[in-house]
Amino acid sequence: MRLKHIKGSEEVMLTSPHITQEPQTLRGAWKRPGEKLFLEIGMGKGQFITQKASADPDNIYIGIEKYSSVMLRAVEKQEQLMLPNLRLIRVDAEQMGEIFAPGEVDAVFLNFSDPWPKDRHAKRRLTSPQFLARYAQILAPGGSVEFKTDNMALFDYSIESFRSSGWEITALTRDLHADPVLSAGNVMTEYEERFSSKGNPIAKLIAVPPLFTTDNNML
Ligand SMILES: C[S@@+](CC[C@H](N)C(=O)[O-])C[C@H]1O[C@@H](n2cnc3c(N)ncnc32)[C@H](O)[C@@H]1O
Repeated sequence: MRLKHIKGSEEVMLTSPHITQEPQTLRGAWKRPGEKLFLEIGMGKGQFITQKASADPDNIYIGIEKYSSVMLRAVEKQEQLMLPNLRLIRVDAEQMGEIFAPGEVDAVFLNFSDPWPKDRHAKRRLTSPQFLARYAQILAPGGSVEFKTDNMALFDYSIESFRSSGWEITALTRDLHADPVLSAGNVMTEYEERFSSKGNPIAKLIAVPPLFTTDNNML
């Protein structure tokens, strides 16, 4: 994705009270008993995670983004709304294992992740087996990944990646907005609004990781 650099965004990342600095120090302590923890990885400008947090004040929502210039828009939204259950972290998702303890996260949302179409960049796709292994580590028992995209090549790649990594796909549609079950309560992202207004169908899947025994073998 081509990004416009916004002057001053780096400084905002380091000084804004709406961004969680040194998130590693909160590993294992992001939520209180009874709360659930939901992450969006690659939140962009934050429309989705902000709306999710606003609609569900009893649980904790975290937006993760690696680029300051896009994240600035999410910070501006939070300056207005001051949602007490929303945290924003600027980090590359490769570092998730240092930020979340095993089993700490109840669901991971991946929305319109960058496709990285060249084979040599496949490891950077947020649905690559390497990233799925990271999610499997931090998800709680019963936790899931929910993935939406309009890019059918990325969707097909992702189905294969989940299956070959031992995940179970529990729901799948190639036309979310026409699916009465999966579209119930759907929160649109910025990219979803943009692509569906052009007539692109939106695909979605939900997947749960394999169960492992204590000696790390898949059941
Ligand atoms: C195409 S945008 C989609 C934004 C938003 N989720 C939406 O649906 O409108 C993908 C976002 O993921 C971010 N991203 C990609 N790889 C990432 C990574 N490894 N860690 C954190 N963010 C990442 C990109 O910087 C970009 O902002």
